[in-house]
Amino acid sequence: MEPVLNVSAVSMNFGGLRALNDVQMHVCAGEIAALIGPNGAGKTTFFNCITSIYEPSEGEVWFTPKAGVRTKLNGMKPNLVTAMGMARTFQNIRLFKNMSVLENVMIARHCRTKAGILGALFRPLTVRQEEKEIVERSYALLKYIGLHKWYNEQACNLPYGAQRKLEIARALATEPTLLLLDEPAAGMNPQETTELKQLVLRIRDEMDMAILLIEHDMSMVMSLAERIYVMEYGCLIAEGTPAEVSSNPQVIKAYLGEEVHA
Ligand SMILES: Nc1ncnc2c1ncn2[C@@H]1O[C@H](COP(=O)(O)OP(=O)(O)OP(=O)(O)O)[C@@H](O)[C@H]1O
Ligand SMILES: [Mg+2]
Repeated sequence: MEPVLNVSAVSMNFGGLRALNDVQMHVCAGEIAALIGPNGAGKTTFFNCITSIYEPSEGEVWFTPKAGVRTKLNGMKPNLVTAMGMARTFQNIRLFKNMSVLENVMIARHCRTKAGILGALFRPLTVRQEEKEIVERSYALLKYIGLHKWYNEQACNLPYGAQRKLEIARALATEPTLLLLDEPAAGMNPQETTELKQLVLRIRDEMDMAILLIEHDMSMVMSLAERIYVMEYGCLIAEGTPAEVSSNPQVIKAYLGEEVHA
């Protein structure tokens, strides 16, 4: 299948620290891939490099949006990367805490709307229709994720697991081709994690999206991912199916006895 993301030889230096070293990775259309590795391995730095939050020190990031042209993302502004079709959630939740749940999704949706500042000021009919559509689509997304009963609640009043789901709703509002999830199950209880697994599968199947998942919860990774990349000290040390990766001696050593069962 055609890769939506193709990363070649990406390295990232922070002063003397080489946080990523010659990383090659691809994600195909419609696939769920995972990136795992011990704390400090460079996983979040990798997301920051491919979404242009950091400019990689070396290497290239190529992206092919749905029905679009293969494009090099190096040097592109992060908001343009989102508009191209790559959306992400953050390891440390980044919601507008004092805005309502619905408003949080509506703001994310704005990258798919046409009205500029003038439109927002003078609000002609076309803009008002667009606003109505934003409200309706944002509410529909909340319903899809199961957060609609809280639509008018301030984001900071939501239980932690629901805030994590709201981050996903915000990412979905941008209609991505590739969804990047940075530890979506962190801080969730087992029931919430089970629901999250089902949600991720539903998103991939029903919204025709590729997903790249960073996660420490191995049961989640092994049950969701079709392909897994393993990173240690900024280098990829393994790539394969859950069964291949979990029986790889280098991976087992990197996790030093932690469970990596397929
Ligand atoms: N902006 C930065 N400046 C300097 N060093 C950084 C920066 N961002 C990350 N690092 C360093 O890069 C390395 C990789 O960090 P990163 O956050 O990518 O790891 P991670 O695999 O996401 O870990 P975790 O599983 O704990 O989230 C760490 O040594 C970290 O301290
Ligand atoms: Mg991280």
